[in-house]
Amino acid sequence: MSGPKKLYIKTYGCQMNVYDSERMAEAMGGAGYVETDTPDDADMILLNTCHIREKAAEKVYSELGRFRSLKDEKPDLKIGVAGCVAQAEGAEIMRRQPMVDLVVGPQSYHRLPELEAKARDGAKALDTDFPVEDKFDTLRHRPRARRGPTAFLTVQEGCDKFCAFCVVPYTRGAEVSRPADRVLEEARDLVERGVREITLLGQNVNAYHGAGTDGGEWSLARLIWALNEIDGLERIRFTTSHPNDMTDDLIAAHGECDKLMPYLHLPVQSGSDRILKRMNRAHTAESYLRLIERIRAARPDILMSGDFIVGFPEETEADFQATLDLIEAVNYGYAFSFKYSTRPGTPAAERDQLPEEVKSERLQRLQALITRQQRAAQDAMVGREVGVLFEKPGRFAGQMVGKSDYLHAVHVSDANLSIGEMARVEIVESGANSLAGRIKAA
Ligand code: 5AD
Ligand code: SF4
Repeated sequence: MSGPKKLYIKTYGCQMNVYDSERMAEAMGGAGYVETDTPDDADMILLNTCHIREKAAEKVYSELGRFRSLKDEKPDLKIGVAGCVAQAEGAEIMRRQPMVDLVVGPQSYHRLPELEAKARDGAKALDTDFPVEDKFDTLRHRPRARRGPTAFLTVQEGCDKFCAFCVVPYTRGAEVSRPADRVLEEARDLVERGVREITLLGQNVNAYHGAGTDGGEWSLARLIWALNEIDGLERIRFTTSHPNDMTDDLIAAHGECDKLMPYLHLPVQSGSDRILKRMNRAHTAESYLRLIERIRAARPDILMSGDFIVGFPEETEADFQATLDLIEAVNYGYAFSFKYSTRPGTPAAERDQLPEEVKSERLQRLQALITRQQRAAQDAMVGREVGVLFEKPGRFAGQMVGKSDYLHAVHVSDANLSIGEMARVEIVESGANSLAGRIKAA
């Protein structure tokens, strides 16, 4: 039997992994592979893994176990582990799980075709280097396939902040920014292929400091202003940011740059100065609140989003209360919250840990508050007019679903709408997880 070989990729974790999976699929396209959305007919299975919280490796082992019968039936099937678990525990995975043919870390996935060839020859292939060549450069020859209206674009990778709980500085390495001309070239290419909204990605995206097209170094704000000039690109977003890298020019851009959307993900993790210090966050609750005031002065309607960790070592009830107070003070439109999870190799893993019940109980209380705020922010959209970019058909005939400027899901019944279209929409109802709207007559 001939025809292209098939690649099945399963992606875990953050948006950067989604982007990386796309790039890996493209790299393997050059090696004669097409993507398939089921593992059953695949010639190669790749798990693109996440290591941010606990049980990451266990999840990978149990997922691999599910592919064992496929591998028994089809000995030619190659199985690979990519992403941050591969980076952290790749050699161990290969030792413990002989069915794994290939391990590739996030900084080496441009070498995937070579690794696949090696695996086809019957050898085990492992690459968790931080190579000197730029993986993005090697991946520049992309196929010209049509794309959906939204895309991720990685502009910065890695982190030098070393928060005491976080594995990212170890799995993704030191902060690196891509040169602006490469980012602009990739953005123009995406727009030509149908993309209307680009989300710039980086573990510390607002620390971006890439080589500019004018010989100088560009900040993220400067890069956003350059992207703003691209005809056909309608919306720009970015994630994830650190409070200490919210520079004046970036704050100002939120008020002045018309394509930059009024939504900002700005994790604070805790509202207690004592815990923030123990987390090595290098900011206080007060400095974070002042920062949000400045951002809201630039863009009053901005929707704030954040990340929180509960049950960090030594967190007392009073520390936790300070987090709830901070959440009350900010009033978030969205928030993501997690129980602290020990990550081997990070400083906080060595400290005394809180009981699981305490973490669970705090998480519940925090999530109840966040849910109320999210609900209120969504309900407050009723009666307002918002921009919506339509992404896909809705559940009912004639219905289209898209995202508002504030990232709320909005559905509209209008048979004339098409995917990739932007429209002004009046919000008429707030449902469980989405808003209903009607097109505003021009
Ligand atoms: N335990 C719990 N949550 C964590 N995060 C990062 N590391 C940990 C950890 N060890 C959360 C932070 C971060 C988000 C991406 O994941 O809130 O902002
Ligand atoms: Fe991790 Fe973000 Fe802290 Fe970097 S800034 S160490 S990615 S939580």
